[in-house]
Amino acid sequence: MDQSLFTYDIIAEDPKTHARAGVLHTPHGDIETPIFMPVGTRATVKGVPWETVKGLGAQIVLSNTYHLAMRPGADLIDEMGGLHSFMNWHGPILTDSGGFQIFSHSDAVKLSDKGVRFIATDYDGSHVFWSPEDNMAIAQKLGSDICMQLDQCIGYPAERRDVQRAMDLSSRWAERCYKAHTRPDQALFGIVQGGMHLDLRIKSLERLEEMGDFPGYGIGGYSVGEDHETMFESLEPLAAEYMPKGKPRYLMGVGNPTTLVRGVACGIDMFDCVLPTRTGRMGTAFSSEGRLNFRNARFAHDGGPVDPQCTCPVCTGGYTRAHIRHMVTVKEMLGGILLSMHNIYYLLDLMRRARQAIIDGAYSEFVNDWMNSPAAKDY
Ligand code: GUN
Ligand code: ZN
Repeated sequence: MDQSLFTYDIIAEDPKTHARAGVLHTPHGDIETPIFMPVGTRATVKGVPWETVKGLGAQIVLSNTYHLAMRPGADLIDEMGGLHSFMNWHGPILTDSGGFQIFSHSDAVKLSDKGVRFIATDYDGSHVFWSPEDNMAIAQKLGSDICMQLDQCIGYPAERRDVQRAMDLSSRWAERCYKAHTRPDQALFGIVQGGMHLDLRIKSLERLEEMGDFPGYGIGGYSVGEDHETMFESLEPLAAEYMPKGKPRYLMGVGNPTTLVRGVACGIDMFDCVLPTRTGRMGTAFSSEGRLNFRNARFAHDGGPVDPQCTCPVCTGGYTRAHIRHMVTVKEMLGGILLSMHNIYYLLDLMRRARQAIIDGAYSEFVNDWMNSPAAKDY
């Protein structure tokens, strides 16, 4: 299918690492990569209005086919003019498929070649069955700019034969998604699976490349229980040596600041994670001093900003650590909202600075400075 609306221009490559800076074109705007994508699972970035999300520098947001199909339903969103119009975000949107929910709801899932049956425990307990074709029909009704194939994400540790089985199933589903997807103003990304086994990952990628011309590739099945070194052992060669150069590479569900910095060095272009908003709601902030827990009494009398080195609207807007610590402690919702804002900005700004370093040909120095800074200490 013609997906020429989704060209990817690489504008700079770092000389010493595999990092690249690019521009991904979509019908709702251009995205400057590397990029972090804030997550709005249920058609909202929890607690943060869109003007604010935009003001923090977000260029694309994520949402989720599984959650939206359960509530309010794809037909209702279609009736309201599609997802952009329904949720009032008019920039680019990426919708994940539900492949991660196969992992996170694994007790309530039945898989077969035909598709996936979810026992919808988070909702009303009813059963839903989706074939890959059903999943594509939902994604196309939502009308996101980028949708992801239906896949099976498997946890770690896992037996190699189970990892292989999940990868094989994901390949067969990819082929059916590829055939069922016909919307020219929406890009379909394939997803590379294969756990921590590089040979399985390469096989998974080869099959996707044989199927046709995906405008981009997700890398799924990481951050599922493995440690960082185990992840990079297969991720680094996969991204640096095997993934096609001219297509965007999206590392799914990874949002630890140090993993972003290292991922970019491997040649990753896109990231998403609930970490900044989920930990923000729980009272935790990323900072130049490492992670800060605002339930801690040490902030009770601190009149400084969340992070003195941060230029976000919260840190430059006069909010003090003492006030935020108080709000988090008494469960005032603004505490979690302000920390969500700060954390989203932190990752967006980190990727903006990484991009500039790549353009300046100095990304290896950027990585070294980062790894030696206190910001990397909680990794
Ligand atoms: N989000 C994080 N990991 C994954 C994955 O493996 N598949 C999908 N679809 N989404 C993810
Ligand atoms: Zn800040």
